[in-house]
Amino acid sequence: MSYLNLNKEKAQAVANELNTLLADYHLYYQKLRNFHWNIVGSYFFELHEKFEEMYNDAQVRIDEIAERVLTLRYTPTSNFSDYLEMAHVKESPSDLEDKEMMKTLLEDHGKLLKQMAKVMDAADKAEDEGTLDLIGGYIADHEKTSWMLDAWTMKKTEKHKVL
Ligand SMILES: [Fe+2]
Repeated sequence: MSYLNLNKEKAQAVANELNTLLADYHLYYQKLRNFHWNIVGSYFFELHEKFEEMYNDAQVRIDEIAERVLTLRYTPTSNFSDYLEMAHVKESPSDLEDKEMMKTLLEDHGKLLKQMAKVMDAADKAEDEGTLDLIGGYIADHEKTSWMLDAWTMKKTEKHKVL
């Protein structure tokens, strides 16, 4: 017996967008590990720890996204070769300066938020409240972390840019 009150085609569109988000999150997760390991300089202790906190959050979300796809009765993409093809987030070199790392992560947050908006749009059309609830929670968190990353890169004399 089906427990879902969702239109099958519309749920498929949600699952597809979730799988793209899953791919993006895997690239983002591995980048955070890369930066956690390879950060050097005066901010080593601060950023080494921050990146670990961020990849632990991403790890939880990766599992939640994949299991949401399964809950919708579709298959989560599970191989890195597929993630590399699907993801908007790209790999990064390991020898970046701390500021470049922060800038790269800020750009990736923009890509993740854009993909989350696509998931929300598909979920809205499917009246998929479970996905709206799950991903809606991620959005505010990522926006907040983005503000923090941006603030970290600013000088005292600079003002926040209005978007
Ligand atoms: Fe570690």
